Amino acid sequence: KMDAYVSNLMSKMTIDEKIGQLNLPAIGFDITGPVLSQGVEEKIQQGLVGGVFNTYTPAAVRKLQAYAITKTRLKIPLLFGYDVIHGHKTIFPIPLGLSSSWDLPLIEQTARAAADEASADGLNWVFSPMVDITRDPRWGRVSEGGGEDTWLGSQIAKAMVKGYQGKSFDTNDVVMACVKHFALYGAVEAGRDYNVVDMSDRRMFETYLPTYKAAVDAGAATVMSSFNEINGVPAAANRWLLTDVLRKQWGFDGMVATDYTAIMELMQHGVGNEEQVAKLALEAGNDMDMVSEIFLKRLKQLVDEKKMNVSYIDQACRRVLEAKYKLGLFANPYKFVSEQRAKTQIMNADKLQLAKEAAEKSMVLLKNQNNVLPLKQGSNIAFIGPLVKDQRDLIGNWSGAGDWKKAISVWDALQKQYPSNTFTYAKGCNILDNQALIDKLNPHDAQIVLDSKTPQQLIDEAVSAANKANVAVVFLGEAFGMTGEAASRSDISLPANQVALLKALKATGKPIVLVLMNGRPLTLPWEDANMDAILETWYGGTKAGDAIADVLFGKYNPSGKLSMTFPRSVGQIPIYYSAKNTGRPIDEQQKYTSKYLDIPNTPLYPFGYGLSYTTFSYSAVKLDKTTINADSKLTATVTITNTGKMAGQETVELYVRDMIGSVTRPLKELKGFQKVFLQPGESKTISFNIGTDDLKFYDINMKYTYEPGDFKLFIGTSSQDVKEADFKVE
Ligand code: IFM
Repeated sequence: KMDAYVSNLMSKMTIDEKIGQLNLPAIGFDITGPVLSQGVEEKIQQGLVGGVFNTYTPAAVRKLQAYAITKTRLKIPLLFGYDVIHGHKTIFPIPLGLSSSWDLPLIEQTARAAADEASADGLNWVFSPMVDITRDPRWGRVSEGGGEDTWLGSQIAKAMVKGYQGKSFDTNDVVMACVKHFALYGAVEAGRDYNVVDMSDRRMFETYLPTYKAAVDAGAATVMSSFNEINGVPAAANRWLLTDVLRKQWGFDGMVATDYTAIMELMQHGVGNEEQVAKLALEAGNDMDMVSEIFLKRLKQLVDEKKMNVSYIDQACRRVLEAKYKLGLFANPYKFVSEQRAKTQIMNADKLQLAKEAAEKSMVLLKNQNNVLPLKQGSNIAFIGPLVKDQRDLIGNWSGAGDWKKAISVWDALQKQYPSNTFTYAKGCNILDNQALIDKLNPHDAQIVLDSKTPQQLIDEAVSAANKANVAVVFLGEAFGMTGEAASRSDISLPANQVALLKALKATGKPIVLVLMNGRPLTLPWEDANMDAILETWYGGTKAGDAIADVLFGKYNPSGKLSMTFPRSVGQIPIYYSAKNTGRPIDEQQKYTSKYLDIPNTPLYPFGYGLSYTTFSYSAVKLDKTTINADSKLTATVTITNTGKMAGQETVELYVRDMIGSVTRPLKELKGFQKVFLQPGESKTISFNIGTDDLKFYDINMKYTYEPGDFKLFIGTSSQDVKEADFKVE
């Protein structure tokens, strides 16, 4: 039916109308900032636009859609896209935070809720999920993804696509997902945004590509090609990537859009002039040109001059029209425009409750010496730091339509939840006092205004507040503009003025709880050695304030686990748990082994790590059999006991190691996890099944297979703290 409809429509289209469908400009009613696209409303009326992004609200969408439907010859409806990255108006924790929940149903629900809000606000396409695996926390965009691990990242990719797209496009509460950034954007050299990627096929297929494939397999309707080059060929001009791998190998039959001005940037990459890059990008497999309008300017001329076959235009146009057909826009162009739904679905009580739950489940307790947390009600507590009363940073980066004024600050949440407690407050320091850095952050977003008090006055006030309190809780981290796109850092420690505050507070001798808000793993060796407790809260979203108050006072017992390694030092990057053994594995007694002279090889906090207010013990791992083959699986069981005094949730992690392969294999690879909730003293036995499908990898001939031999299986509370058992594959 779709084929016939689209073919019939295309038979009526001129080449200009077809090329118009490939144009994706930005037009913003509700946001400001640099907008390159010019005269978009006129172009829509001339049939020169296939979709727009950065426009939302039913009224704004209706207006543009009406231009397409009433003013153009063929009345082809527009797509409306937007960066709904961690919620639309109800903002959930940043994706790196959400991934730390290791809670796939929860992650799916957040995407579902975001789709419900976005579609109620006129949108039908979200530029998410971002599934770029990354092992370099210098890269600012780690905040937008699910961390370092391929297996976990693939599960998250699937959950998000399911959440956005729902069961089918028949209803009006779903949106098309857009898997990005295809591909390998998370591996940019030196963590510098937009930089080069050079990678072996083995690493690509084994580690970096599976998350995109998982999203495609889950039915993602669209894909965004990435800014970076791959082994010398920019992704936006990479036919091998966008056609051979994506479409031919993986069977993707949806639509591909470029990233923002990526076709124009092909000229900067140095692969052609404007005419050449238009041809390269279309022939590679991109269908829509985001913002650069080079397709609009150049494609017709290329066909007229017989430099390009018109079939490429037809093919891309067909894919855009198919996306519109699948969404049901031909049947009803205003399907996603409903003031009524906007009123009832956006920021309703259910969404806000979900946002609080997600924020609570995303937090990771990194240290808790002498059980300084949870805080005791009735005790005298000093809340210190520039983030205590902050609202803007709570919702983090890429929170496009989110209104930070609707986020409740930690301070307000504390007053609301504990009205009879006496809390004191001191700002302690500016979030940043390095003016050169402040100037580099987007001034519209960051609005960092230095306090009229001197840094020393701020510190003195904080020290005096801490001296009068039983405990000081200090809120520090990154201003949200310090992470995200174009926000790479070479030094990922806390800003120096924040550390100066912590050092002054340490000198008071009072217990100190450090509460972090940030968008990437940080280097925290001094903080780890000197703080009594450290709670990582990321940028927790609209309800972060309430959620943090709940966690600090023990209403919610933290259960998050890191999805990305925290290094001790930038010098260890890239650092990730699934490393290889090398021929000279570290041996402290032997000089000529693989190690640093100045720091250990181990991270500060490993992948999978996160504490609870209670403690869990693990029994030895039992296997029901120690040999498997292609037709059999083994079951591994372990008993977990809550050995502490509070009820709590533990994430039980399963890893494997293939001891000998035709190619070298990682020391550990995550293959599963389960969540278990235990009352104090309670025990539960957890089982995992492992079969040969779980042990496959790209062998010496790049064949995806398993190899017989010896394996180790590990079950534990983090990638470093595990119990092990051996098995064989025949
Ligand atoms: O979706 C984003 C992408 O992640 C980065 N460049 C701009 C796009 C559209 O806003």
